[in-house]
Amino acid sequence: MSEYSIRRETPEDYRAVEELTREAFWNVYKPGADEHYFIHQMRNHPDFIPELAFVAELDGRIIGNIMYTKAWLEDETGTRKEILSFGPLCVAREYQRHKVGSALIEHSFGIARGMGYDVNINFGNPGNYVRRGFVSCKKKNVSFAVEGNYPTALLVCELVPNALDGKKWMYIPSTAADCCEDTAAVEAFDAGFPPKEKKWMPSQEEFYIYSHSSVIR
Ligand SMILES: CC(C)(COP(=O)(O)OP(=O)(O)OC[C@H]1O[C@@H](n2cnc3c(N)ncnc32)[C@H](O)[C@@H]1OP(=O)(O)O)[C@@H](O)C(=O)NCCC(=O)NCCS
Repeated sequence: MSEYSIRRETPEDYRAVEELTREAFWNVYKPGADEHYFIHQMRNHPDFIPELAFVAELDGRIIGNIMYTKAWLEDETGTRKEILSFGPLCVAREYQRHKVGSALIEHSFGIARGMGYDVNINFGNPGNYVRRGFVSCKKKNVSFAVEGNYPTALLVCELVPNALDGKKWMYIPSTAADCCEDTAAVEAFDAGFPPKEKKWMPSQEEFYIYSHSSVIR
């Protein structure tokens, strides 16, 4: 694969990034996609971190991107720690499996460490992340919604080794993704893009299994 560069996203990139995101996510997790609407709204959300929005560019074309919001961990005393949560992360289909996604993660983690962040947590398909040091939330005592609930898809990556050791935590995500519950708004936004067929793909069933299960022991 030819040489590509990673740089900060600028407002001129917004539409291209939304188009890329729509194409990369289309039919992967549900028939159609809402991730392009999510990022469109996310950029105006108070939890969005513009310093950590990066694109991968090849010959003037954006072929990958990563975006982050703030999230929080609450310990047993109720004290909150600000952490990171990335997503969406995507790579154009024809460039997937060439380590562009890994490079976007590594690049942004390096900048994030410099900003003082020591933990990233996000929901995702474990197969995409476990090779890069992400572990089940259970291994780091991070519960979600109810103490002792460890979703299979909730993955923890310490940017600083052992940053979470010695405590029990509750994960508190940003509300940035809540906008996607407004399906009429998602549809209206999507109507501004070229028509695309919605259909079933097996990855949707895989996602259902991951997103409806927990690690129990
Ligand atoms: C997930 C995604 C960002 C990965 O980007 P990428 O550049 O293809 O990933 P990399 O080449 O860095 O892959 C690193 C590892 O991730 C895993 N991986 C990546 N894509 C995978 C896939 N489709 N199926 C299974 N494992 C995959 C593999 O272990 C891979 O290592 P390997 O190629 O040595 O086996 C990209 O496939 C994508 O945009 N997918 C659609 C959108 C999406 O699902 N985003 C993530 C939301 S959770």
